[in-house]
Amino acid sequence: MHWIKSLLWSGVATAAAQPTDGLYSLVKRRLPDHFDQFRFNLDANFGDNDGYDQFRVQSADNGTVLLHGNSISALSSGLHRYLTEIVHVDIYWFVGSRLGQAPSSLPRFDTPILGSSTVPWRYHFNTVTFSYTSAFWTWEEWELQLDWLALRGVNLPLASVGQEKIMVDVFQEIGLTGAEISTFLSGPAFLAWNRFGNIQGSWGGSLPQTWIDQQFGLSKKIVKRMVELRMTPVLPAFTGYVPMNTSRVLPNANIVRGSQWSGFSSQYSNDSFLQPFDDNFARIQNLFIGRQKAAYGNVSHIYTLDQYNENNPYSGDPGYLHNITRTTWHSLKEADPDAIWLMQGWLFYSSESFWTSERVEAYLSGVGKNSDMLILDLFSESMPQWRRTNSYYGKPWIWCQLHDYGGQMGLYGQIQNITQNATQARLESPSMVGYGLSPEGQEGNEVVYDMLLDQAWSSTPLDTESYFHAWVASRYSGCGSIPQELYKAWDLMRTTIYNNTNLTTTAVMRPVFVSRPQLSGLVGVAGSFGTVLTYDPLVLVWAWRLMYHAASSEPRLWSNPSYRHDMVDVTRQIMANAFTPLYLSLTSTYNNSDSTQASLSQKGTRMIQLLADIDSVLLTNKNFRLSTWIESARAWAGGDKKQESFFEYSARNQITLWGPDGEISDYAAKQWGGLLSSYYVPRWRIFVEYLKSTPAVSYNASMLQDRLLEFELKWQKKTWAETEPTGDAADLEIVLARVIQEWPSIFGHA
Ligand SMILES: *[C@@H]1O[C@H](CO)[C@@H](O)[C@H](O)[C@H]1NC(C)=O
Ligand SMILES: *[C@@H]1O[C@H](CO)[C@@H](O)[C@H](O)[C@H]1NC(C)=O
Ligand SMILES: *[C@@H]1O[C@H](CO)[C@@H](O)[C@H](O)[C@H]1NC(C)=O
Ligand SMILES: *[C@@H]1O[C@H](CO)[C@@H](O)[C@H](O)[C@H]1NC(C)=O
Ligand SMILES: *[C@@H]1O[C@H](CO)[C@@H](O)[C@H](O)[C@H]1NC(C)=O
Ligand SMILES: *[C@@H]1O[C@H](CO)[C@@H](O)[C@H](O)[C@H]1NC(C)=O
Ligand SMILES: *[C@@H]1O[C@H](CO)[C@@H](O)[C@H](O)[C@H]1NC(C)=O
Ligand SMILES: *[C@@H]1O[C@H](CO)[C@@H](O)[C@H](O)[C@H]1NC(C)=O
Ligand SMILES: *[C@@H]1O[C@H](CO)[C@@H](O)[C@H](O)[C@H]1NC(C)=O
Ligand SMILES: *[C@@H]1O[C@H](CO)[C@@H](O)[C@H](O)[C@H]1NC(C)=O
Ligand SMILES: *[C@@H]1O[C@H](CO)[C@@H](O)[C@H](O)[C@H]1NC(C)=O
Repeated sequence: MHWIKSLLWSGVATAAAQPTDGLYSLVKRRLPDHFDQFRFNLDANFGDNDGYDQFRVQSADNGTVLLHGNSISALSSGLHRYLTEIVHVDIYWFVGSRLGQAPSSLPRFDTPILGSSTVPWRYHFNTVTFSYTSAFWTWEEWELQLDWLALRGVNLPLASVGQEKIMVDVFQEIGLTGAEISTFLSGPAFLAWNRFGNIQGSWGGSLPQTWIDQQFGLSKKIVKRMVELRMTPVLPAFTGYVPMNTSRVLPNANIVRGSQWSGFSSQYSNDSFLQPFDDNFARIQNLFIGRQKAAYGNVSHIYTLDQYNENNPYSGDPGYLHNITRTTWHSLKEADPDAIWLMQGWLFYSSESFWTSERVEAYLSGVGKNSDMLILDLFSESMPQWRRTNSYYGKPWIWCQLHDYGGQMGLYGQIQNITQNATQARLESPSMVGYGLSPEGQEGNEVVYDMLLDQAWSSTPLDTESYFHAWVASRYSGCGSIPQELYKAWDLMRTTIYNNTNLTTTAVMRPVFVSRPQLSGLVGVAGSFGTVLTYDPLVLVWAWRLMYHAASSEPRLWSNPSYRHDMVDVTRQIMANAFTPLYLSLTSTYNNSDSTQASLSQKGTRMIQLLADIDSVLLTNKNFRLSTWIESARAWAGGDKKQESFFEYSARNQITLWGPDGEISDYAAKQWGGLLSSYYVPRWRIFVEYLKSTPAVSYNASMLQDRLLEFELKWQKKTWAETEPTGDAADLEIVLARVIQEWPSIFGHA
């Protein structure tokens, strides 16, 4: 693996005066009062050469925290270890930075903390996270994310933001018109799939140039900060997907149509693909990478390039597949002699029947030098592909935890796999070179993401019990001592909710109520639209009670943002779980030939009341509000009314119909306050009204679906300002007191 080390060292030969400047800036941002109390010493020869990144943290006699390490990532990981293990503070998704809770005098410690990574790379992001989670992020949100990554030792983040600018400029350069390019690009919430060649074009409006320019401005800041923190950004490259009219400007070019994707019509799918063996491919690659380097500097040689993500090649002939990668690889090397091609290995799982071992081998062997490629084994915790592909036939690869589809929300985890199997893979596969996170969306369950990144610094499987204990200690810091109930609640969740080992469910499951209402087929569904519950719901009620009682022994928890966040999340989950029996009770009543309108009304009302109450719990926290997502989308329009409406439409469409006509409806469903009340509740009302007006023998699923679709299509076009009430949400403690009273069947007598 020597190539990797040399790449890491050479990759840092850039910008800032001192390599540690970025770390000092991080401390200044997040711990301004303690700026003088940290000393970072970078020494490439530090450590015993047993591991990759190594650090030592110790207290100096005068109280200064001294950090030594052989890389910036080692130093920031050492800083994180000190902050979490000694000071018990951290920064989190949604909750934000809690580092400010550190005491004014930093704690000293006697035994130095030593750390040694077991792999050279720690990776983060799925290509689609950029649409499901960060589509509308501001720079402030990115700053927090990048500090989160740095502290957790990530040294290889994907940097996909803003690539449309480079793309558009290159397309113009080869002679395409503005209209030809703009009809190819997708809406702001759908760019990830446009980049993949899954979709083309936009519905509901078209991507304005101002968006493209502003995102490009944002991307420059992101890449600069990544470099400052000495991460290696994985930059975009030209994949081959081009506007349809490319054949107008390159009449002899070898262009084929890609496959149809997820039920989208050929207007929006079957993207045109310029075959990599065509000479124009290398020319465009060169233009793309040249422009990119001009924009960001000579900051990285690792490029993300996915050609066949859920999109099968034109031919399955092994010779053809080998030719595709060989010529693509050559195009990268011509543009950047140090280029390394990073690809998501998702296709080998999602299109497993196409990607036979023979084809995988043919495709990968086109890249003549193993070290010129880096493959993300994207779903290692559930559907690893590295074994069947013989460790990708020697290509270096990264063990990734996917965990979440579409930013769906549900408490879930596979702690055994991300500790034991992850360790086993490293020991077994000589070409395994990293651990990574590849969630489609960042939606809660942060503990299992933290755990895999920490596993990268342990040669044996982490002990999950002590890990969770320590995690809780940092999570709820800032309220005096942490009540035992919180440790107990999380430990209970650890051994149940976070310990799924049943292959039937492989990722986060969602509750029944986010699915489009129908009489059957909603409960216990597996797969990416799944609703299976992998634990006894009573266990979670028990954990909830412990968490709730923790605030009786320590009332300051009510003002702790981590507690407020987690309390909403766990309450959401137990109420969501309680929807299933109410739904089944309604539908079994309906099936019963002597059901009455009154009994249906009564059951329907109860079910809808539950949704309304979940909504009010969610509204107490801005991280669980629809308005947060919509406002962030609208804000990118800079006051332009037409753009505001289009961005809002794009944002709404992604989390509901996902496509102009519901092509992937509800795949990216969210449990957000305001979304339940304005979308799911009306859908369930339509359902209940339909049942009331139709005897079971005449139930017509397609008629019901038509009515629902009519409502769903209208909802897409609503705009926030006109329709949604604003005003302050009630306080969590008060809302909880009310819903607990109302639902003794769920909460017991709390
Ligand atoms: C870019 O950086 C690499 C090392 O990372 C170096 O080998 C190469 O010469 C640099 N290229 C330019 C044009 O500066
Ligand atoms: C504290 O001690 C460290 C290590 O000996 C030294 O680098 C630092 O300058 C000292 N700080 C102060 C404020 O004296
Ligand atoms: C594509 O090119 C044709 C002429 O070859 C032209 O009529 C058409 O308008 C172009 N499409 C777009 C979207 O500009
Ligand atoms: C789109 O792709 C599908 C295969 O996925 C194919 O059957 C269809 O003919 C293609 N349509 C066009 C217009 O290329
Ligand atoms: C790939 O296929 C094209 C078209 O058949 C051919 O011209 C080219 O030589 C092949 N390239 C490689 C590297 O095999
Ligand atoms: C995880 O490891 C166990 C024990 O070796 C094995 O049975 C299981 O198949 C592995 N699971 C995955 C998803 O690799
Ligand atoms: C997780 O579940 C497996 C299988 O039921 C069990 O063997 C293991 O002890 C559990 N681990 C934890 C930490 O609960
Ligand atoms: C796995 O889950 C499925 C669906 O819930 C269930 O039918 C099956 O019995 C479970 N298997 C084990 C081994 O628990
Ligand atoms: C890993 O996960 C898979 C799929 O969920 C499961 O079949 C396997 O038993 C798990 N292995 C361990 C060690 O938890
Ligand atoms: C109601 O009837 C439908 C259609 O026969 C069936 O699929 C569904 O499972 C029944 N629901 C309940 C709760 O019995
Ligand atoms: C069900 O409703 C659809 C309209 O959505 C209608 O075309 C169809 O004929 C109905 N089926 C029956 C059996 O009535």
